[in-house]
Amino acid sequence: MSNSEKLNVVILAAGKGTRMYSSVPKVLHRLAGIPLLGHVINTVRLLKPASICVVYGHGGEAVPAAFSGGDLRFALQEPQNGTGHAVQMALPHLGDDGNTMILYGDVPLTGVATLQKLARADGMTLLTAQMDNPHGYGRIVRDAGGAITRIVEEKDATKEEREITEVNTGILVAPTNKLRSWLSELKNDNAQKEYYLTDVVEMAAREGTRIASVHPQRIWEVMGVNNRAQLAELERIFQLELARELMMQGVGLADPARLDVRGRLSCGRDVFIDVNCVFEGEVNLGDNVRIGSNSVLKNVEIREGSEVAPFTHIEGAEVGANCKIGPYARIRPGTTLAANAHVGNFVEIKNSQIGTGSKANHLSYVGDASVGSNVNIGAGTITCNYDGANKHRTVIEDDAFIGSDTQLIAPVTVGRGATIGAGSTIARNAPEGGLTLSRSKQIHIESWKRPKKKE
Ligand code: UD1
Ligand code: CA
Repeated sequence: MSNSEKLNVVILAAGKGTRMYSSVPKVLHRLAGIPLLGHVINTVRLLKPASICVVYGHGGEAVPAAFSGGDLRFALQEPQNGTGHAVQMALPHLGDDGNTMILYGDVPLTGVATLQKLARADGMTLLTAQMDNPHGYGRIVRDAGGAITRIVEEKDATKEEREITEVNTGILVAPTNKLRSWLSELKNDNAQKEYYLTDVVEMAAREGTRIASVHPQRIWEVMGVNNRAQLAELERIFQLELARELMMQGVGLADPARLDVRGRLSCGRDVFIDVNCVFEGEVNLGDNVRIGSNSVLKNVEIREGSEVAPFTHIEGAEVGANCKIGPYARIRPGTTLAANAHVGNFVEIKNSQIGTGSKANHLSYVGDASVGSNVNIGAGTITCNYDGANKHRTVIEDDAFIGSDTQLIAPVTVGRGATIGAGSTIARNAPEGGLTLSRSKQIHIESWKRPKKKE
């Protein structure tokens, strides 16, 4: 068995998060659309550990309720008497052999490479970092020979100790059986009257256990979230990293600082994304797709060569090749556009299938409709799909032409090749071919006078 197969992971997530000023537990606040704790869980899963135990407390059952997966165990810590006490709560969930890695639920961006370095280490290993401003962190105390002897918390440190710039990130790995015995000896005789996990370091040193340290590749890997400013800071770091990765894979970004991905974005060759776009859920963009500025795409698949003009919102839709969408289009869930379809400004399409080469270029609502190929939907066309209680479908067959300002009162079918005269209210099926229209007769009143304002 390799080391990592015997690796237990404990994620501490019971703390208050007072400085968020929120009724949502801190670890459930989202970074890139995923709860902070979700980032930690996702990274940890890549290590394929034997077990993952989340210690929760503040916020109660909301924390376990937010996560699923048979691989997760949850240990309640109530009250929250410190990081050492928190790990004690997890002990019943840990196997006896192998190592235990301890992580924080509010430190979301630790990379898997860094954790792997930690997991590979023998004995006790701490993730430490040099910080120009170490204020607030526990300091790593070393002896003359450079060996780690203990960690001292800021509040308990002497003036000299506060000068130390190597800080405890809180993340560590230790042999599980040793951890058990050290934790059983913890005392809370310190400034905060808490059971400090960090005190196990001194116990280990006294026993002669070698204490190693590894460092994160990038400092933001160990940055925690205590308030909303730090959350926003980490969000920007995350997004910029992701933007850089996309550009390295060949994606063109107008400005890497103005991209937000809250989920997974995958792109073909020569994709270009203009500024201020938001991608949520699962978004796939084919070769040569262009996304105009200020567009929001959620759970969308767009095939090669399609162009989305600015200020377009697309959710839960599949877009075929070489389509043109927007500006100012809204495409809602359940919609598929076949190749070469055009959806123009102020057009809303919901739960509809639009056939090859069909166009709705201006100011229309198309809902619950099956539209064939090469259909032209004129400006201001409305499918009246809702009778106040139920939704009904509109069927528009191939090559039909719907004149401007038509209302199609569903359920209704417009036959193949039919033309609907502008301004019609179509309440019964329109046959194939020919012209169908329903319009009041135009009249002229010669003597008509415009009303005037009363004196
Ligand atoms: C802790 C470390 C400190 C380190 C710093 C890094 C201790 C005693 N100190 O200090 O050396 O530099 O983290 O950020 O460990 N938590 C619980 N239950 C508790 C208390 C905390 O689950 O009873 C969780 C919190 O939710 C959080 C993490 O443990 O995820 C750290 O707690 P926090 O109170 O922020 O620790 P610090 O005082 O910052
Ligand atoms: Ca903290």
